Amino acid sequence: MSEVDEGLVWVPKAAEIAREAGARLREFFAQGVETEYKGDVDLVTVADRTAEKLIRERLAVAFPEHGIYGEEGTRERMDGEFRWYVDPLDGTTNFAHGFPQFCVSMGLEKRATETIVAGVIYDPMRDELYTAERGKGAWLNGKAIHVSRTPVLAESLISTGFPSRKRHDSPNIHFYHEFTLRSHGVRRAGSAALDLAFVAAGRLEAFWEFNLNPWDTAAGVLLVEEAGGMLTDFAGGAFQLDSRAVLASNGLIHGELVELFKNMFAGRDLSPIPTPQEFAQARAQRAAG
Ligand code: IPD
Ligand code: CA
Ligand code: CA
Repeated sequence: MSEVDEGLVWVPKAAEIAREAGARLREFFAQGVETEYKGDVDLVTVADRTAEKLIRERLAVAFPEHGIYGEEGTRERMDGEFRWYVDPLDGTTNFAHGFPQFCVSMGLEKRATETIVAGVIYDPMRDELYTAERGKGAWLNGKAIHVSRTPVLAESLISTGFPSRKRHDSPNIHFYHEFTLRSHGVRRAGSAALDLAFVAAGRLEAFWEFNLNPWDTAAGVLLVEEAGGMLTDFAGGAFQLDSRAVLASNGLIHGELVELFKNMFAGRDLSPIPTPQEFAQARAQRAAG
C-alpha cells in the first residue's frame, strides 16, 4: 500500500509546501549565502527567513484556520485548534558551511489533546520526503518505513546534537563519550529533524538531544512513533512537545538507553578515558623507552 491510499488529510498539501520551500533552499545553497549571528554561534541566513515566509504564506492559503509557530518568528492564529510548528531550515550551520545535511520540518499539533497529528520533513539534497499522519504509518517518498530491529546498543548506530546557545552549560559531551564507547558510533550530523527521520527510517537506532524546540521535533517525533519506535524524555517518561529533552529509539534498545541515562545522571557508569595530558605523558614515556 502507498501513502496515497491512506486517506491523508494534511500531508498532501504540507508535502507540496515543504518541497517548494526545499527547492528554494537548494537554490540558495547552490549560490551561497551570507551568514548572520542570532547568538554566540547561532547562525541565520536569508534562506531561513525566505523559506519561513514561503511556508507561512502557503499554509495560510491551504489551512486558513491553522496557527503557525515558526523558528524565525512567525506567530499566527495562536488560538487556533491546530498549530503548525515550522523549522524552515533545520541544520543552518551545515547549510551556511556548504555541508549538505539540512531539511524543512513541519509538524501539526492538535492543541486540545497536545498530540502531533501530521508531520512532514523534506531533505532537498537527497530529494527525500518523510511524511506521517497519526495512525496512518510513516513514509519515505511514498514507501512505508519502519524502525530498525537491532536489539542491543552495542550493535547500534546512534546520533545526537549539541546546542548553539549556552554551550558551556551542556553536559552532553559526557553522554557522547559514553555512548560512543558502547555502540557502533555516535553521529553528530547537525539536523535534529533529519536525525529523527533517520531513526524512523531504520538508518539509526536512536537519537537524543538536550534543549530542542518544538519546531525541531514536532514532525520527527510523529515519524518515529508511526514507524514503530519509541519516544520519551531521558528518564523514560512521556515525551511532551515542550519537554526539550528527546530520546527516540527503535524501542528495542530504549530500556538500555534509559538505564544508562539514569546511571550517568547519578554519577555512575562513566567509562574512564585518558585526559589529553595523561595521553601525552604516556606517549612521551613510551618514546623515552
Ligand atoms: C539545530 C539543529 C542541530 C541541533 C541544534 C538545533 P537549527 O537547529 O537541529 O542538529 O543540534 O540543537 O538548534 O538551528 O539548524 O534550526
Ligand atoms: Ca532546528
Ligand atoms: Ca532552523
